Amino acid sequence: MRTIAIFNLKGGVSKTVTTAAMADCLAADHGKRVLLIDADQQGNLSQYFGVKAEEGADLLALLQGTNEPYYPDFVTPARPGIDIIPAGMSLMYADLDAIKDGRCNLGAIEDLRGAIAEDAASPNSEDRAKAYNYILIDCPPAFSAASTAALTAADAVIIPIRLDAFSTSGVAELTQQVVNMRRANDRLRVTGVLATQYQHTDVEDDALALLPAQSGLPVYRTKIRHSSRVAAATFAGESLLAFSPHCGASKDYRRFVQEFLGQEGKANG
Ligand SMILES: Nc1ncnc2c1ncn2[C@@H]1O[C@H](COP(=O)(O)OP(=O)(O)OP(=O)(O)O)[C@@H](O)[C@H]1O
Ligand SMILES: [Mg+2]
Repeated sequence: MRTIAIFNLKGGVSKTVTTAAMADCLAADHGKRVLLIDADQQGNLSQYFGVKAEEGADLLALLQGTNEPYYPDFVTPARPGIDIIPAGMSLMYADLDAIKDGRCNLGAIEDLRGAIAEDAASPNSEDRAKAYNYILIDCPPAFSAASTAALTAADAVIIPIRLDAFSTSGVAELTQQVVNMRRANDRLRVTGVLATQYQHTDVEDDALALLPAQSGLPVYRTKIRHSSRVAAATFAGESLLAFSPHCGASKDYRRFVQEFLGQEGKANG
């Protein structure tokens, strides 16, 4: 069982679309069970999967809980093989709680991860069946109580970036972000930077060529192409891979998940 945070403090770099496409591909093409966690009060991931943050069954409730969570209480089935812990605007109360009296349980996602890992290793087949292979966390473009809880629990981080908005200062910011993330969790590993919304420009190609040396971070070989079908799929509330299987972005996300799983296999073997 692996916990991956999709993180970048920059907004609009495809964190949510990447989280959703990874989940759809891991579940539909690779038979994995995926738990999505929406750690963003914008609630875009929850909205995309058509799940509302209900009181008591969302990420806020998990972060406000003090006991070891019984995680099935917090999850809502979203698509075959995919469950979600949703979020909405009320997630800001987690930040208020944390500031006011430290009542926010920043270890809650870490505890949930532990409970799932226990189930995955259980001799009881019912426990094993409800456990997940991957937890994917869609982070907000900010450090918040929820993103701190996400980074505390994560084994690895994927950083989506848009190359057109990416200059030398972008690389410095990225490096600083990774330093700050490791303050939350020093075993955190950046598995890769993922170029998204790629439009075949020279500026993007130049930035991408320099990125590994400038940032010192691994960069995925796969680039996700810009495609108008992405917005259409999100409006329709459907999996991009099912809605438009032949668009560039769908093909690239499939390729990216292959690359990601290959890397996971190497890390585990
Ligand atoms: N490959 C793509 N091609 C075209 N449009 C895309 C692509 N990926 C994402 N988008 C669009 O870009 C916008 C931002 O994407 P997304 O919401 O995933 O970014 P984000 O990093 O999660 O943003 P935020 O920081 O606000 O959470 C959305 O309108 C989305 O439809
Ligand atoms: Mg988002």
